[in-house]
Parts: sequence; structure tokens; C-alpha cells
Amino acid sequence: MGSSKRIIAGVGALAVTGAMFASTGAVVAQDRAFEECIVGVSWNNFQQPRWAATDQPNMKATVEAGGGTFSEFDANLDTLQQDTDIQTLIDQGADVLVLLAQDTVAIAPSLEKAKDAGIPVIAYDRLIEDADVLYITFDNIGVGAAEAAAIFDAVPSGNYVLIKGDPGDPNASTFLPQGWDDAGLADKIASGEITIIDDQFTPAWATETAQNTMEAIIDAANADGVQIDAVLAENDSTALGVAGALQAKGYDQIPVSGQDGDRANLQNVAAGWQYVDVWKDSNELGKVAGEAALQLCEGVAMSEIVLPDGLVKAHAAPAAGSAVSQFTTPNGTVVNSFILQPTPLTAESLNLPVEAGWISKEDLCVNAAEGVAACE
Ligand code: BGC
Repeated sequence: MGSSKRIIAGVGALAVTGAMFASTGAVVAQDRAFEECIVGVSWNNFQQPRWAATDQPNMKATVEAGGGTFSEFDANLDTLQQDTDIQTLIDQGADVLVLLAQDTVAIAPSLEKAKDAGIPVIAYDRLIEDADVLYITFDNIGVGAAEAAAIFDAVPSGNYVLIKGDPGDPNASTFLPQGWDDAGLADKIASGEITIIDDQFTPAWATETAQNTMEAIIDAANADGVQIDAVLAENDSTALGVAGALQAKGYDQIPVSGQDGDRANLQNVAAGWQYVDVWKDSNELGKVAGEAALQLCEGVAMSEIVLPDGLVKAHAAPAAGSAVSQFTTPNGTVVNSFILQPTPLTAESLNLPVEAGWISKEDLCVNAAEGVAACE
């Protein structure tokens, strides 16, 4: 890497909210075969808890421990701002880009700019449909399947509401619904076991929007004399909105899904306002992206990247092993990938995130219902 590149300090625009969860194990500094390594990161929505609490600190610590420089921007949900941010990172001399895309289609011109500049791109958490990206994420179809399987256990038939995330995010529009169907949703609808009484996206995955949507659905159901039996919510920010709506409308606790393992949501699982939270240990995802970025700086080909032993905790480690594997996208493109494993949590298994140091027992149990073993 050319030593004439300007090394920039991390961008100050982001306020990391501190260690909401206990941090992961120590990141060990290693000698790396590069002169410099500027890792440029474009977040689209740093407001939501996981990115600042877990993904970012682990990615940054891994890059810095390996001798790299970390530079980042938050596009604050704006596709044009994200384009500007990526251009700035390119101009700053980024050697690798890590992109959490606001919109899978709108990001295409930025990706071309990165390619023109010869900069490898990591599609972080969310797919960008392009053969040249390294796709680092959790098994998003598996997340959807785990959400639905848990809710079907609790409510095998009845009236369901579907609360999806942002329509521009392939996790929301494609992978999670595919997982729901893999677990049997489409079949249960076809057989009449499940009736979908409403199905809505949530722009920006915003909690308040999800709450407003759910309140309107409850009002309409009440007016029609219809009981809502369960809610498949795609992630924790939307599940939080659903739980808020149930409470605001004086509704009984009904099974609600979510994913991420956000603090408020784990507390809601303990309290009974959320039935399942598919935990994604995103500390581990951040470490994988940081490590992959360092190896790309060293000139390792994407297809040759291997994660060192001990980097990723066993519960999240890619099922395909420590070497890059191939992922076929919905468009049929094959991309290099690391696909980490999620862990579904219900009230019975809340000991797992406590034992892993993800959340303290004290924090988890603030509003716990009677009989939650992890809180006894
Ligand atoms: C991620 C979720 C996250 C959501 C909102 C999705 O793409 O996979 O973990 O909750 O974005 O930020």
C-alpha cells in the first residue's frame, strides 16, 4: 500500500454509546504484512443499538490491534449521504470499505466508484448484489426460520400479523420472509391454519413507526371483533414497537418475535412481552469483518481468507468453517462469504446470553416475570 496516503483519524461524527453489553475477549495485536491499512466504514443507521454497542467496537478494536486505521461515517438513513460518505472514504485513501447499506439498489453507484478505485468491498450484514463483494453476515434465512419456528410452537394456528423491516434491506424484503416460509408459514397460510390479518414494512426499521403501525392494526382488529394471536416482527427494533403498541392498547401478552438480542428486547423476553429473540452475537461479526479487512490489506485474495483459530466464539462461528465459503444470492450470483450462526432465545434459555457475558443478570431481570430460570 502506498505510504503517500494520508492517514486520517477516526471520524468524530459518531458517538459510541459505551459498552452496553460486556465486551468480548481481548483482541491480540499482530504483525501484518502491510505498510498501512485504512479501513473505511459506512454505517447507514448507527442509531439502532447493535451497531454502536457491539459491531463497531469489535470491528474497530480488531482493525486497530492489527495495525490498521479505522475511519467511519453514519449516513443517518440517507442514501445520498451514504454515497457522499463512501466518496469521502475513497478520497481519504481507504484500502478496504465496509458498507452497511441503507438501500441495496441505491448503493450501486458507490460500489462502482469503489471498484474503479480498486478498493475491495465488504457487504456488512446486508447483501449488496455484486459478484465482487465479500458478504459477512449471519444466516438471515436461518434467523427468520428460527423466529417462525418458535412462534409456531407457541401458536400453531390463528391470526397473525407480519411486521417487516425496511423494504430496501434484503434482510427485510427477502431473507427473513424466506426463513418464515422455510419454517412453514406459506404452507400454514395455504392450509388455512394461519390467517394473515396484516403485513407491513417499517421504513428505517423504526420502533416508533412499528408501534404506530401495530396500534392501527389493533384498532382495526378490535373494530372487526378479531383477536390477534401472534406477531412475526423481523427484528428487535420493530418488536419493541409491537410490544409498545400492545401495552398502549391494553392488549394481552401475545407471542412476538424479534432478532438481535438488544437489551430492551431481552428484558421483554424475561417480562413476557416478546416470546423469542433470535440472538446474533454481533461482537463476533464485527471481529470477522475487522480481520477480513486486515487480510485484504495484506493482499490476501477474498476467496483465500481464513479466520484464525479462536477469533470467533463457537456459538456464532460460521457453520461452513473458518475458510471463506460461497453464498448464492437471490439473483443467482455467487459471492465469497462468512455466514455466522444465530441463537434463538426464549424465556427458558435466557441463561445463554448471561453466561456469554452479553448481558448481566441484573440488567436482564429488571422486569422479569415469575419463574424465569435465568432470573431466579
Ligand atoms: C439487521 C438487523 C437490524 C436491522 C436494523 C438488519 O439488516 O440484520 O440485525 O436489526 O437491520 O438495523
